[in-house]
Amino acid sequence: MLSEPATASDCHITVRNAGPLSGEVVVPGAKNSVLKLMTASLMADGLYEITNVPSIVDVGIMADLLRAIGVDVSRPANDTVVIDNRGDLTPVAPWDLVEQMRASINVLGPLLARCGHVRLSMPGGDDFGSRPIDMHIAGLEKMGATFSFDDDVLEARATRLQGADITFEFPSVGATENLMTAAVLADGETTIENAAREPEIIDLCEFLVKMGAKIEGIGTSQLRITGVGPDDLRGCVHETVADRIQAATYIAACAVAGGSIDLLNAQPRHMEMVLARLTDMGLEFDRLPYGVRVTACERMRAIDVATLPYPGIATDYKPLIITMLAVAEGVGIVTENLYPGRFKYVDELQRLGAQIRTDGHHAVVRGVPRLRGATVHSHDIRAGAAMVVAGLAAEGTTTITGVHHIDRGYDDLVGRLRSIGADISRG
Ligand code: UD1
Repeated sequence: MLSEPATASDCHITVRNAGPLSGEVVVPGAKNSVLKLMTASLMADGLYEITNVPSIVDVGIMADLLRAIGVDVSRPANDTVVIDNRGDLTPVAPWDLVEQMRASINVLGPLLARCGHVRLSMPGGDDFGSRPIDMHIAGLEKMGATFSFDDDVLEARATRLQGADITFEFPSVGATENLMTAAVLADGETTIENAAREPEIIDLCEFLVKMGAKIEGIGTSQLRITGVGPDDLRGCVHETVADRIQAATYIAACAVAGGSIDLLNAQPRHMEMVLARLTDMGLEFDRLPYGVRVTACERMRAIDVATLPYPGIATDYKPLIITMLAVAEGVGIVTENLYPGRFKYVDELQRLGAQIRTDGHHAVVRGVPRLRGATVHSHDIRAGAAMVVAGLAAEGTTTITGVHHIDRGYDDLVGRLRSIGADISRG
């Protein structure tokens, strides 16, 4: 049975500081991987079973998008999605679904390669300011696709995509994914230079290889894809990679509340840079056979951080890091290099007593010993989670509204935090 969390536009989360956290949290699969695995299943007839699927709203939206295109999607267990692609596809992505989720753009490469035609509304999702898709389009054009736009609806056509040599000026995650999937069914060889190499990209590569794709250079910034025919591809079974951003959220919770927690299924090798910098702040990490243990320190020290494509510090960690700096000793400067507009939540943290000044793409955070509870709004997925973490660092009660954003990317954040001792509820 399908069981997605209810969309919660009017519900709120209440958090109170209740001292140190302890216990274990199982880290769910990554949103930014599973959504792309689901779209890759559009490329070939077959039965796909994806496990370690997080119970999040975006998976439900993606399931609806695939169904609208003509694929059967079921959820035999909460952490499993089964996709039965019988091949009769309508390559049209409806506006009401696309506008809810940026990852909808990932149907572009698979559908264009498979069907030779796709009609897609321009993608929505988190509001980080302008998020263009010019690199997706330029790359697909180089492979022989033609594009037209009419009232925010993009239409792409190609008889058969041709392999091409593509060099990105910036390692875009979404553009790498779209071009890589398109190249799997293209005629000849495609190289992508300066490709993104996030763990979620590696997960998608491994899924495509199980389907029968020929990809070399997996995990590097140079991908070489040799096109195959549709009959060379098949369904597969795949376990979604662990979510490094959800893992970091529990680390941040422990960092501000104190205590020590074990993050089961977390993959420290995917988080090396962020764990190194959090160690500089005073946290301790111990590798476990199946995860990582984090132990908080008396008071964290401020550091300077800049977001960068992987293996740098991901932009998605940034609201969590700013929240940690808000209660650390000293002044830290955080520089955003990916999304100019991604500081909206700073106003909310200031309501909680955080001392933060933003200037262009920098935030200067002067740590205070404690935040104070207030009502704050969640503007996007990661900012919402950061507000919850901030509530753990605040005297009194913090109420977070805009919880539907958190539900898009977090699998039972409230239940998981409560299980390790947080005073948190949802109403
Ligand atoms: C993905 C993640 C998002 C994460 C981001 C960077 C998903 C669903 N989302 O987003 O959580 O924050 O990677 O790690 O996986 N850009 C262009 N032109 C393009 C493509 C991108 O200018 O054609 C710009 C974007 O506007 C943005 C930056 O490049 O400023 C990063 O974008 P990209 O790496 O493509 O991120 P997404 O795939 O959108």
